[in-house]
Amino acid sequence: MTTLIKKQTVIPVTELEQSAFCQAEGNLRTKTLKEEFLTGVRWQKVPKRYLTLEPSEIDEGILYCKKQLGESVVILGHHYQRDEVIKHADITGDSFKLSKIASEYDRSKWIVFCGVHFMAETADILTASDQNVLLPNMAAGCSMADMAQTEDVEEAWFELGSVLDITRVIPVTYMNSTAVIKSICGKNNGIVCTSSNAVNTFEWALKRGDKILFLPDQHLGRNTGLKMGIKEEQMVVWNPFKRNGGLTENQIRSSKLILWQGHCSVHTRFTTGQIQDARTKDKGVNVIVHPECTNDVVAAADYNGSTEFIIETITNSEPGSSWTVGTEINLVNRLAQDNPDKKIYCLDSVVCPCATMYRIHPAYLLWVLEGIMAGLAINRIRVSDQDRKFSRVAVDRMLNVSD
Ligand code: 13P
Ligand code: SF4
Repeated sequence: MTTLIKKQTVIPVTELEQSAFCQAEGNLRTKTLKEEFLTGVRWQKVPKRYLTLEPSEIDEGILYCKKQLGESVVILGHHYQRDEVIKHADITGDSFKLSKIASEYDRSKWIVFCGVHFMAETADILTASDQNVLLPNMAAGCSMADMAQTEDVEEAWFELGSVLDITRVIPVTYMNSTAVIKSICGKNNGIVCTSSNAVNTFEWALKRGDKILFLPDQHLGRNTGLKMGIKEEQMVVWNPFKRNGGLTENQIRSSKLILWQGHCSVHTRFTTGQIQDARTKDKGVNVIVHPECTNDVVAAADYNGSTEFIIETITNSEPGSSWTVGTEINLVNRLAQDNPDKKIYCLDSVVCPCATMYRIHPAYLLWVLEGIMAGLAINRIRVSDQDRKFSRVAVDRMLNVSD
């Protein structure tokens, strides 16, 4: 038997804070940092004066800095950012679009990334050495990325190698992982993917090997595998807290897809019960969800796809159509604002933003912009040379596959 528990399950602090801003009435209006800290969250410390600035004062400050700094600064904003931040972004997008833009954007010395840590790392990997990528709040991580810790992945790779010909296993990591994990993939003939190109990258991997080790989101991995015709019986879940992932050698050998036991705390909140309720209350409603949702939810929905796919599908839909959406609330609210001719609402009636994306409060954005004005690179994200080389290999493979 290979099911001995060897280490304790550690729940990332990012996961523990997930419900800090959940609320029934749906008001996500930005307050002063001091007021938001009252929820008990543990965010990066900032100089005192930023704590009490009112949102309108922060706006004025950001606009002033942007005007002074001109093209030397570009602000990138992921679609899950709050409105009070996204309105200052020069370019918005999902993680694929933003990484592509970072790889092509050479006009600005300063790239302020309003998103989460792994996205800023990817931007650093893809930009020139004289460009500086800044993450306004260093606590803006991602609980899913935290679920694939370097030593656990290295150990899994070693354990797999004692059962299989490891050269026939292709590691594929979701963009939502650290640069070190991307580098492990790059070194071992693997690739990075995003939710927009997961099928293409899985096809790429299966041309080069017999099996995929997919990190860190088991749900995106399962949904992608099923979309490609891989059967559920050919998939196993690797539990990093158990020896050999909690699997028998036979299970490992007969699998095609080895799914890391990670998940997104935002997208796994959606349930088939919510879909049934929506269909009962709103006849003819279209259900659209992100593939980080569990497979029963994806199967019960009418459409599923990446953030850009969701935006495009709803934007191009018939006026008067009704949509319930299984993805992050800031994006859903913005879609509703931008499409007043359609009915658009979140599948979950409890409003729950991604807690880590939410850590980019506009006061942090102002802090780093004022830093640039003073010649300071506050919160510069710098991937080590060693990890940069092979993570770039894995990201470039993805960009080539998607072209
Ligand atoms: P995409 O931006 O690739 O759709 O991913 C969603 C997500 O969860 C980002 O953290
Ligand atoms: Fe991570 Fe999920 Fe938040 Fe994306 S939405 S940053 S995957 S926790």
